[in-house]
Amino acid sequence: MSNVSEAAIDGLLAKGLRNQWYAICPSGFVSEKPLSLRRCGYRMVLWRGLDGSLYALEDRCPHRGVPLSCGILMDDRIACGYHGVQVDKDGVAVVVPGSPGCKLEGSKSTKSFPMQERNGLVFAYVGDEAHPDAPELVLPEELSSPEYSSFLCYAEWKGDYRYVIDNVMDPMHGTFLHKQSHSMSFGDTQANFKIRETETGFVFEKEGQRNVNFDWTEYGHTGALWLRLEIPYPKTGGPGGNFVIVGMYTPISDTMCAVVHWRCRKVSGWQRDTWRFLYKNRLEARHWQVLEQDRTMLELCDPDANKHENLYAHDMGLVRMRRVMRNQAIAQLTASADAGRHVA
Ligand code: FES
Ligand SMILES: [Fe+2]
Repeated sequence: MSNVSEAAIDGLLAKGLRNQWYAICPSGFVSEKPLSLRRCGYRMVLWRGLDGSLYALEDRCPHRGVPLSCGILMDDRIACGYHGVQVDKDGVAVVVPGSPGCKLEGSKSTKSFPMQERNGLVFAYVGDEAHPDAPELVLPEELSSPEYSSFLCYAEWKGDYRYVIDNVMDPMHGTFLHKQSHSMSFGDTQANFKIRETETGFVFEKEGQRNVNFDWTEYGHTGALWLRLEIPYPKTGGPGGNFVIVGMYTPISDTMCAVVHWRCRKVSGWQRDTWRFLYKNRLEARHWQVLEQDRTMLELCDPDANKHENLYAHDMGLVRMRRVMRNQAIAQLTASADAGRHVA
């Protein structure tokens, strides 16, 4: 039994679990100018070096705490705008021009974040003190196999990222909230669900209905937490396989989150070109409309909406998901407490 408090568990989950990769922003957001973003309980400064490499530090000067993002970039380091302390990509204050040789000089006094770019998106690894080294980030096959084609879709929503996860772990809302949509007007409004374990997580799926509507959601954890679901395309969607959505959701603050979806399809050759053309000309606007229905619903929820629930069988998926995340939070808090550390 763990003796970590409910407040600590909720505090960690609100910031996001540690020791995993997070989707931060589209690649195009980060340039050779400092970009300050709040993510996962940190204010980060992100930038690119002269060769395009990505760097990210906590956006706080180790001298007196002003944002490093107000400073001057020098390839893989930033010179703070206030007194010129230079912090390198690893968070070491390499030069203290006002007081050479002082204790600050040469110390690793700023948190640095391992970064990578995949599928048009910037990822940062958010580790705690005991886990500075990032695990491998393995993305679902829709994002790593050449047999698939995908579009990145990025949005920031006013709400806790956990509501977005609940929403995706709830296939039944497709039949109701999205019933007007071109691809979710079919199938039963009642269903029995089951949970099937996988090597990297679990699938929450309808019994006896497949390829009709939004019939299943998968949770996976492979260096990052991701969700995946599939919605069949109608004939007007052109040739190719089902519409697959891979999602990642990142806390910005208690009331904001980054919502990242890749819209994917198994298509090759001319069918790939056809889908990409159709997507841009017809499908994208419809897909956005569907996502807007989710956003509107979730943004209208009070922050404590999930304290006033009466769940039923269709909510088994999100109940499992919450339990998985809660158990991970307890494990991280317990490990840190045992080591006499705070989870950052
Ligand atoms: S606050 Fe940054 S150098 Fe003084
Ligand atoms: Fe939805």
